[in-house]
Amino acid sequence: MSETPRPVVGTLTPPNGTDPVPRPVERKLVGKETLEGAGVRLRRMFGGSEVPLLDPFLLLDNFGSTNPADYLAGFPWHPHRGIETVTYMLNGRTAHEDSLGNRGVIDSGDVQWMSAGSGILHQEMPKRTDGRLSGFQLWVNLPRSLKMEAPAYRGLRSDAIPVVPGEDGRKVRVIAGTYDRVAGPVTHIPVDPTYLDVALPAGAAFDLPVPKGHTVFAQPFEGAGTFDRSGAARSGFPGAPGETILYGDGDRVEIRAGDAGLRFLLVAGRPLHEPVAWYGPIVMNTRDELVEAVHDLDRGTFIRAKTVREL
Ligand code: CO
Repeated sequence: MSETPRPVVGTLTPPNGTDPVPRPVERKLVGKETLEGAGVRLRRMFGGSEVPLLDPFLLLDNFGSTNPADYLAGFPWHPHRGIETVTYMLNGRTAHEDSLGNRGVIDSGDVQWMSAGSGILHQEMPKRTDGRLSGFQLWVNLPRSLKMEAPAYRGLRSDAIPVVPGEDGRKVRVIAGTYDRVAGPVTHIPVDPTYLDVALPAGAAFDLPVPKGHTVFAQPFEGAGTFDRSGAARSGFPGAPGETILYGDGDRVEIRAGDAGLRFLLVAGRPLHEPVAWYGPIVMNTRDELVEAVHDLDRGTFIRAKTVREL
């Protein structure tokens, strides 16, 4: 015997006549063990074949090991063009220097949001760490109109990133976008991103409005929880570290921590809907632009802009 579905009560409908639509979980992407740089063992959560799904995000690497042999070889001098690389150190230190004249250490809790634009050369060298060295690097695509702009650089110390506390003990670090009316320090990024680090206590619910049409994913890395509470057909979606949770379209995400709590990145951005031509650390729109980039590297003309873009 089936019950007749109850109609939605009118008072739930906002004045504009459209219900906020919770985003369903569309797909779980399982990370793959990968060797990168000069021999860094990491987990590539997505990158390459998943491009149309993740637009404007190109790649997400999760590095994490208690064995220095897995990371000390690092990422010696290499070029980037046409993208932004976002490095978030959870624990440990990475020394970096680049052709823009930046040189320093990305320490625990720090974020480096680097826009390669027309081209930079840099190196990223993890340092020996007691315990576990861990973090993420996300590649964000640039629109065609900005791929050959001068590079820009943001190095954010941990204490420059606001933490929004909750009465239940939650902590939300706001790197980009807004949470609970607190804006992150990374602004003026072409794809209008949200980048949050969310730590929830056991059983806590986390709801976040996100722009319709933006690409949204969650990257759990501690504990477990459900990433979709939208209805009977999907009463819950267990996630675990090692998977990226990609959302379908809608107005909000609804997440709940499991018994051991849950920590995850919540990332959103406006898709570019442009062709992607990808060659290693260079991502352009056409094959001809890749050929030009390789010729530039051969001829020593890769660095086009002598000064960085002011922010
Ligand atoms: Co790099």
